[in-house]
Amino acid sequence: MAVLGIESSAHTFGIGIVDRGKILANAKRMYPISGKGMIPMRVADFHVRGIKGLLKSAFDESGLGIKDIESVGYTMGPGIGPCLSIGNTVAKTLASKYKLKIYQVNHAIAHIEIAKHINRFSDPLALYVSGGNSQILAITNEPFKHYRVYGETFDIGVGNMLDNFARAAGLKPAWGSSVAKLAAGGKYLPMPYTVKGMDFAFTGLQTKAVSMLRSNSAKDVAFSLQETSFSMLCEATERALALLNKKSVIVCGGVAQSQRLREMLATVASSHGARFGFAPDQYNADNGAMIALVAEKIMASGAKSSRIADCGVRQDYRADSVRITW
Ligand code: FE2
Repeated sequence: MAVLGIESSAHTFGIGIVDRGKILANAKRMYPISGKGMIPMRVADFHVRGIKGLLKSAFDESGLGIKDIESVGYTMGPGIGPCLSIGNTVAKTLASKYKLKIYQVNHAIAHIEIAKHINRFSDPLALYVSGGNSQILAITNEPFKHYRVYGETFDIGVGNMLDNFARAAGLKPAWGSSVAKLAAGGKYLPMPYTVKGMDFAFTGLQTKAVSMLRSNSAKDVAFSLQETSFSMLCEATERALALLNKKSVIVCGGVAQSQRLREMLATVASSHGARFGFAPDQYNADNGAMIALVAEKIMASGAKSSRIADCGVRQDYRADSVRITW
């Protein structure tokens, strides 16, 4: 029997299906982002309109029907409230109508677990980098088995920092890849660099980069911003790697699609004799398959499914508050 996963924490509504660790479907639909960003209620409305079509796509892709589904998992958080609520409602409706078990999944943990699963790593150090999040995590058993956050941003996620810079530079979405394209062939200009132990901060760097656009080539500023912010992430990750002596490192989340960040992290990992891995891009961007995968892991661990009436959303649901049962 298969597990269906629903992701709706931000601009992407995704429905994935897995069966014993095999990903059978990963249907998704993304809200078209404009230069003005996202208005949460409009994104939620967009998600509502896509539900029927996405369910059909996921079933068509997997060759399965609802009768083959045993459980449903959904993103409980973190994320944007109105968007999370749509996935929550769909999951509860399916669970109630078709008598499915229901599991609540943490979005950050799903990003880590799918990269770990695809690379077949058992206990990696994870750098989770997306629009709203930037954290360094690894599993610890003290005082209970959970992902401990060893380092994180003091202010905004590296993805939002790149997005904000890209808007100021007049680039088009997808902003992260627009910055990468602009940066090609640029030369380095000194920029603020803020790492405190295994934590880091991006707002000062963003402000400086935007102000530098006035008197420098946008190419050089984009190149320097990328090199500086990724170096900060690499320094903090390397410190965590040296502290924990992990044998593998993964990068996951939307910014894990960056070729340059992957290249830099591969160098960090190899200099410590650790393996390095990441998931294909469709699983770094938000997706339903990662939610289905974690729901299946929770189910296989023997942990109890939730009562439908207890299933809600939590915008501030932190990865380090989740007990790992698998
Ligand atoms: Fe995400």
